[in-house]
Amino acid sequence: MSVRILGIESSCDETAAAVVADGREILSSVVASQIDIHRKYGGVVPELASREHLRRIVPVVREALEQAKINLQDVDAIGVTQGPGLVGSLLVGITYGKTLAESLGKPLVPVNHLEGHIHAAFLEAYKIGINPALPAVCLIVSGGHTVLYEIQPKDSTRTDAAALWSYRRIGQTRDDAAGEAYDKVSKLLGLGYPGGPILDRLAHVAGATPAPVKFGPTKTRGNALDFSFSGLKTAVLYHLRENPDYLPEIYAREAAIARGERKFDQLLPLCSQKTLGLVREFQNAVVRDLVERTLKAAEELAVPTILVSGGVAANRQLRSTFEQRAGAACLKVFFPSMALSTDNAAMIAAAAYPRFRNNILADVSLNASASLPIA
Ligand code: KG4
Ligand code: ZN
Repeated sequence: MSVRILGIESSCDETAAAVVADGREILSSVVASQIDIHRKYGGVVPELASREHLRRIVPVVREALEQAKINLQDVDAIGVTQGPGLVGSLLVGITYGKTLAESLGKPLVPVNHLEGHIHAAFLEAYKIGINPALPAVCLIVSGGHTVLYEIQPKDSTRTDAAALWSYRRIGQTRDDAAGEAYDKVSKLLGLGYPGGPILDRLAHVAGATPAPVKFGPTKTRGNALDFSFSGLKTAVLYHLRENPDYLPEIYAREAAIARGERKFDQLLPLCSQKTLGLVREFQNAVVRDLVERTLKAAEELAVPTILVSGGVAANRQLRSTFEQRAGAACLKVFFPSMALSTDNAAMIAAAAYPRFRNNILADVSLNASASLPIA
């Protein structure tokens, strides 16, 4: 009989629930995104996010159970995101998880959201029967995080899904997260929120369009594995200020978005070749930085595996560059699918499994932790 864990995730602007069997097999995964609510503010509004989580959490959990074809009583444990994230949002999931666990008499497993993102890459690999070899270097790259971890098994003889891992943070952003840079540059260019998906597609069609400006590699003093993206965002800002000929098309795109015309096919005709070249150059710089530092870490630590997770891991150029470069260096690289890259609860249920099997549980005193570290 398999162990079925109900995962609950509410750390940011996605209300999610999922059922995962034995830490490996996704029986259901339901995600209610709040993007439409936060879009007009150009970012996540914490107060609105927690209110929306309150509205969605019950139906989302119910749907996850229905899709998995099980009842609440069939669940073996409840895994819930404890942090990091927005406190008000986290509290909704935690309170609901605690209440379910208490009323059903089931164990409650506290999960770190970042550990969830790491498990997302494993969940994807399990789908095709692969168990990524440890130790590994993992890049988590999203709207809130850009961080590099080394992952080791706590017991080197164990490779099963119930084995515990230890984490060592080896690099992180000094300022903006990579996803945040995408969102800010998109705003500067009048391309709306969130920025990642639209800039990804525009950079793709830009291909070899000449860049109107060049962005060199970012240097960080001290730890060579640290990232920094705010300088790049500022460089885009200065380039736009120095070139007022961008303004008419930026206004035209802002007006289109205000009319609700935010689809790629609607925005592409409003982008000049110069803008496409700029977007491509911005993306080249982000991708180069993420890939170079991650490969450097993998090389220094002599690990066989790279894992890339988080919303920005959905980026096509990032994926193809990693695949090319890792292949050339004889490293295996694993990404979650698009659905498992962005916030979801399957990754939370998967991360809860080894904790449940090793009796790392919480009681009713569990509280949200906005900056919960895993290492
Ligand atoms: O992991 P996620 O859903 O939420 C956070 O925990 O932040 O990531 C959302 C972030 C946003 O900043 C969004 O612009 C970025 O991921 N993103 C992308 C792409 N899709 C989403 N960035 C680059 N390329 C993409 N295709
Ligand atoms: Zn996340």
